[in-house]
Amino acid sequence: MAEKEVVETSEAQIAVHWAEEGYYYPSPQFIAQANMTDPAVYDRFSLDNFPNCFKEYADLLTWYEYWDEILDTSDAPCFKWFKGGKINASYNCVDRHLADKKNKTALHFVPELEEEKIEHITYQELYVRVNEMAALLRDFAGLKRGDRVTLHLPMVPELPITMLACARLGVIHSQVFGGFSGKAAADRIVDSGSRVLITMDSYYRGGGLLDHKEKAEIAVAQAAKDGQAVDKVLVWQRYPGKASSPTPMVDGRDYFVNDLLKDYYGVRVEPEKMNAEDPLFLMYTSGTTGKPKGCQHGTGGFLAYVTGTSKYVQDIHPEDVYWCMADIGWITGHSYIVYGPLALGASSVIYEGIPTYPDAGRCWRIAQDLDVNIFHTAPTAIRALRKVGPDEPAKYNYHFKHMTTVGEPIEPAVWKWYHKEVGKGEAIIVDTWWQTETGGFLCSTLPAIKPMKPGSAGPGMPGIHPIIFDDEGKELPAGAGIAGNICIQNPWPGMFQTIWGDRQRFVDTYFARYCKDPNSKDWRDWPYLTGDAAVHGPDGYYRILGRIDDVINVSGHRLGTKELESAAMTVPEVAEAAVVPVADDIKGKVPDMYIALKPGFEASEEMTKKIMTAMITEIGPIAKPRKIWIVPDMPKTRSGKIMRRVLAAISNKQDVGDVMTLANPEIVEHIQGMASK
Ligand code: WT7
Repeated sequence: MAEKEVVETSEAQIAVHWAEEGYYYPSPQFIAQANMTDPAVYDRFSLDNFPNCFKEYADLLTWYEYWDEILDTSDAPCFKWFKGGKINASYNCVDRHLADKKNKTALHFVPELEEEKIEHITYQELYVRVNEMAALLRDFAGLKRGDRVTLHLPMVPELPITMLACARLGVIHSQVFGGFSGKAAADRIVDSGSRVLITMDSYYRGGGLLDHKEKAEIAVAQAAKDGQAVDKVLVWQRYPGKASSPTPMVDGRDYFVNDLLKDYYGVRVEPEKMNAEDPLFLMYTSGTTGKPKGCQHGTGGFLAYVTGTSKYVQDIHPEDVYWCMADIGWITGHSYIVYGPLALGASSVIYEGIPTYPDAGRCWRIAQDLDVNIFHTAPTAIRALRKVGPDEPAKYNYHFKHMTTVGEPIEPAVWKWYHKEVGKGEAIIVDTWWQTETGGFLCSTLPAIKPMKPGSAGPGMPGIHPIIFDDEGKELPAGAGIAGNICIQNPWPGMFQTIWGDRQRFVDTYFARYCKDPNSKDWRDWPYLTGDAAVHGPDGYYRILGRIDDVINVSGHRLGTKELESAAMTVPEVAEAAVVPVADDIKGKVPDMYIALKPGFEASEEMTKKIMTAMITEIGPIAKPRKIWIVPDMPKTRSGKIMRRVLAAISNKQDVGDVMTLANPEIVEHIQGMASK
């Protein structure tokens, strides 16, 4: 089945439709200091000036050799940006700041335990630590340009240090979200062909020190079974010199990084002069099949795009204190905690723990203590913070000039609380819509130029030209008032280059649907299918409604329903599994799981627990369904297809519609009866 096929459970169908909101305007103080105040930027980045407009972003970087071709489309839709250019991302994020910022904080690390001191890592120190780690990776682990390495690290400074060390060598890093299970890490180790795994022994989460090393054991064992040998596991210690994990080290395979580093003190590693189009990293994300996709991001294009958008949308100046609360294990952290802010010489905050630990005021104390003035988070966190402490922000003396929301649609009521209480009515908000695949923002307001509108992401970014097609491929113009499939007409530098090792899936998933000519070398023939439904307002602002495919956005994290279903299917008693999205006050969407057991097995509490455990071990705690319903049978069409639409309606307490054409209509009432209890 091609992935472009629209499935019956469309999130857009159950998406809430909010009333049109009025505009909010930036303050004169904000405009006076903003990096981008010239409305002509939209003309400079018009389609007529594409692709040369992106020179403006490339020129924010330091190149060893300047590129000679801005966009090479000869292998469309695998586009190459800034061809002929030579560049190193680590150099751009670290070395080039030493001349005027060596004594400035690059990373503020805030441990979860409040009694632990905040660590302030200067650019000079970052330079030293990145170089020593690069030397270790090269000389001890034998890693070289083009190799892939899997990182499974929590939110600690060792994560960006490791990423930048890889980038220095031209080693392609693939960071797996720390909350994912060992098995999930194994799948990514195998797919990327990594023979080195870099992890940490433990980290703090919700007040407890978690054993993280145990996941490495599972990952390495599973990867070996699946044909990928990991010969070295490099383990950072949460507390150098101290054992914080009960999981034993394996002789000749596992090494403590901080012990090894002693051999590399003072070593400096010349950055590799990478081709602009060489891959910088892989970031796995969920699709409509069970197998996660390794989104391959390039070096020059990605770095140019995240640097430009960090400067003009995040409005980061070197003197700002910028805190993006996302996890670096997701694309937001790669683009907007590490690469974009550091390329601009900013001070970026890394917080280890959960936003509400030990209480509802934690985030605002961090903001106050570090004097954070740019804040970046997701609707799910905003909703949670509002729920536990609606009046907390006012108790702390911090002032944000700028705030971001990202990851899922934000309800106007939540937006307004964010603006009034968190932003104290002073901060501007950007609602940035984008994806793992896109590397950086697709739609957002430029904060000093365009007013905000709660519930709308805003217009396309400069140089990003969205278009909405209906299912027949007809364009839905601005003001049409109908939702359609939002695509991007043109390539852009931050766009991923391909799916690692699977070009065909890349083409099928993102381009086949609206491609005008599969042999074309002209970018105009390759609109990019985002997989979201959207409406285009008469004012040119886009309102994003949600996914059109089998992807559920839980707390701004993408989970493929097939991925969840396959995890449940690892329980031998399970015959069939179907996952549907349910609206949730805090998390946006949560999965409900319907299970049919094999003949001879009965529903029981143990069975439910067994399936729940499988979700955690196969994927991680974020994959836990809200509810597991063990049903006698699934509602099915006469051809035997599970009707997820009907299950979704039941879970969301909506009308199931006409079910008389099903093969087993009576089951619907039965399941409704179960669900109403
Ligand atoms: C999906 C991408 C972007 C980095 C974090 C998530 C949804 C993202 C918004 C927004 C409405 C949004 C879309 C998109 N999404 N930002 N501002 N408003 N929806 O990256 O895990 O690749 O998920 O998140 O549905 O397709 P991701």
